Amino acid sequence: MARDTFQLGKAAAAAYEQQKVKAIFRPLAEATLSAIEISNKDVVLDVACGTGIVSRVLWERSSPEAAITGIDLNEGMIEMARGVTSNTPDAFSWHTGDVTGMPFNDGSFTSAICQQGFQFFPDEEAALKEIRRVLQPGGRFILTVWAEPSRFFLALADAIGRHVSPEDATRSLAPFTYAGLDAIPELLCSCGFADVWSTDLTVERVIHEPKVSIPLEITGNPVGPAVLGRGEEVMASIVSEVLATCSDLLRGNDLISPQTARLFNATAV
Ligand SMILES: C[S@@+](CC[C@H](N)C(=O)[O-])C[C@H]1O[C@@H](n2cnc3c(N)ncnc32)[C@H](O)[C@@H]1O
Repeated sequence: MARDTFQLGKAAAAAYEQQKVKAIFRPLAEATLSAIEISNKDVVLDVACGTGIVSRVLWERSSPEAAITGIDLNEGMIEMARGVTSNTPDAFSWHTGDVTGMPFNDGSFTSAICQQGFQFFPDEEAALKEIRRVLQPGGRFILTVWAEPSRFFLALADAIGRHVSPEDATRSLAPFTYAGLDAIPELLCSCGFADVWSTDLTVERVIHEPKVSIPLEITGNPVGPAVLGRGEEVMASIVSEVLATCSDLLRGNDLISPQTARLFNATAV
């Protein structure tokens, strides 16, 4: 199967922002920006920025002097990023584009961050070389990739496999099953980076009111159209099966499932 590139339609990008950003991508951005230091003098690029949550958390924390630049392949994600930052338009510069051919001059940035985008790049080497090109020598690249599927996503994939198709079940796990995780340090070194270190970050995915939020989790995923296309009864069965499998993760109105990401830090040489 060709690599999934996590492409969403415009309505799905809205569901992504409403559900997934709140449940996991904001908490992960906060954990990442607590684990590394970015000063307000840094000129920062957010690669595969989605709806721009890393940029937004960075702005809330340190208001960099230079506008934070975000780039993503998906026009719907970038429109959403523009919309949710319309009150502070000068703080951000949003671009639609591919990581392997970015419209920025050599050495434009002192730091680049890529949160959960790498596993969707069809050519990782070309992507890393391009990120290296737009960084200054001595600049920093921070990358996070999920290390394994969480209990919640394993239960969801099982239910999708039963009610939709095995292919969609596998696709729903694509963010968590990147096969080259252990090879990333070597790959970084072969693409113009050095001094690579990594650490694991575990964050809790908090799915508030799961009966309402699980359908949104599915809608904001590339398998959304396949699942929604099977109708409301299938969606209801998937939700109730996931809730039964994950009953020990329920806390009041929340389903809480920890997720572990590997963070890599590298220096451009
Ligand atoms: C799981 S989302 C993560 C988005 C964001 N970093 C966040 O934390 O919310 C993955 C993103 O990678 C983007 N993406 C996939 N392939 C890409 C490419 N070749 N160039 C740029 N962005 C890409 C997708 O459009 C999607 O927005």
